[in-house]
Amino acid sequence: MPILTLIYLLASVSFIAGLKMLSNPTTARRGNLIAAAGMLLAIAGTIFGYHDETGKSLGNYGWIFGGIFIGAVIGAVSARKVKMTSMPEMVSLFNGMGGACAALISIVEFNHLVKAPPVDSRAELLIILAGLLIGTVSFTGSMVAWGKLNGKVKDFAFPGQHYINMIVLLAAIAIGGWMLAHNLLSAPLFYTILVLSIVYGLFFVLPIGGADMPVVISILNSFTGVAAACGGFLYDNKAMLTGGILVGAAGTLLTILMCKAMNRSLLNVLIGSFGGGAKAGADNAGAQGIYKEVSLSDAAVVLAYANKVMIVPGYGLAVAQAQHVCHELEKLLTSRGVEVKYAIHPVAGRMPGHMNVLLAEADVAYENLLEMEQANEEFPSVDVVMVLGANDVVNPAAKNDKNSPIYGMPILEVELARSCIVNKRSMKPGYAGIENELFFSPRTSMLFGDAKKVLQDLVAEIKNI
Ligand code: TAP
Repeated sequence: MPILTLIYLLASVSFIAGLKMLSNPTTARRGNLIAAAGMLLAIAGTIFGYHDETGKSLGNYGWIFGGIFIGAVIGAVSARKVKMTSMPEMVSLFNGMGGACAALISIVEFNHLVKAPPVDSRAELLIILAGLLIGTVSFTGSMVAWGKLNGKVKDFAFPGQHYINMIVLLAAIAIGGWMLAHNLLSAPLFYTILVLSIVYGLFFVLPIGGADMPVVISILNSFTGVAAACGGFLYDNKAMLTGGILVGAAGTLLTILMCKAMNRSLLNVLIGSFGGGAKAGADNAGAQGIYKEVSLSDAAVVLAYANKVMIVPGYGLAVAQAQHVCHELEKLLTSRGVEVKYAIHPVAGRMPGHMNVLLAEADVAYENLLEMEQANEEFPSVDVVMVLGANDVVNPAAKNDKNSPIYGMPILEVELARSCIVNKRSMKPGYAGIENELFFSPRTSMLFGDAKKVLQDLVAEIKNI
């Protein structure tokens, strides 16, 4: 077996093993390193081990190493600097680069094909066109998603936009079909597909609510995977093919899981209005009755003398960067003999695994994190639930109100516990833009304030008890 084939095989195995290890927090870091080492091996193998039919090696080393150096510096610096809450933004940007890369491969290879056309170029042309269309959509879509997440791009829609989008996409496919049917290597038609793909990518993501971006990024991620796999076909490069297929499949599965955990169809995410800015932000205080407030000192006493406390972290905890002080509270309570666990909802926060990563960063032990099903079994025996910046994932309307947009979404049933303290800054709704009847339950007390500040004050109070 040629050495390069062996290298690609090893790289492919490392991608699969790494991906498998990512599914558990204890092995995730190692999994990431193993997959990265496999990628390094594949890149080094290609640079130094590739020879064409005439025995010529790759060449262009100045360009290649220059590109690698610039990319590595930008990647390493931005990965070190990025805040946990901006991670979806970064994923979007990197994903966009992958899409652009696949589209550029298609442009380069189309020009090669034009220069030396075989008798029948259709098989190659099909892969080139697929890579161009999918890669470009992924690039422009990801750039819009990135802009939306960092607040630079606003939602934009006009009547009939979805139909125009469909027409643009169908036109690109039809032109590609025409080129294939007639074995036509026409540059004007090729670049028309490129322009239509750019327009489609922009218009596809622009109307979708900013808060739905994680799902969109996950779909675009799977697009990039498929586009990269096209490159793998084109170059008969097995590592690129396996890597692309894995990204494509993982992105698709993640999209499905996210939609399931929110109880929404993909179509509803793509053309629905859930999570838009209009409703969110309205102050609903009092609309459902009266809520009860608890003072910091009373909350401290209730927590300090409880037998069992369940912490429910949400998006607000991440925004406040309160994970470290949350862990401090947990340790303090545990030292007083209180049993403390965390209930993790699959879509708490704004990206998959958001809460797990956040708490792992603060050294919270994995065995103290309960998944939703386990936590729901335990709530009836819990004395105090401490909800920290979570809202939708604890909203009983998901079970009780058929008209609620989140009806059917599985939730953490915190209302089953003996008492519940909810920390947030106001009575404003969360991501779904809807009221939460939990806040008005007789068993619930509101503890207003920024999660980090409130937790710091709670820790100080409990130390004085
Ligand atoms: P949300 O429902 O968004 O609620 C977060 C709450 O945190 C808000 O009500 C906000 O209330 C509060 N908050 C904000 N900043 C705070 C701070 N500094 N200190 C204290 N509280 C603060 O969050 P959730 O319960 O975690 O639910 C996640 C939502 O995101 C779900 O609807 C889910 O479907 C959606 N979503 C998740 C994902 C993934 S994969 N995780 C992907 C797409 C969508 P105040 O403004 O009053 O403080």
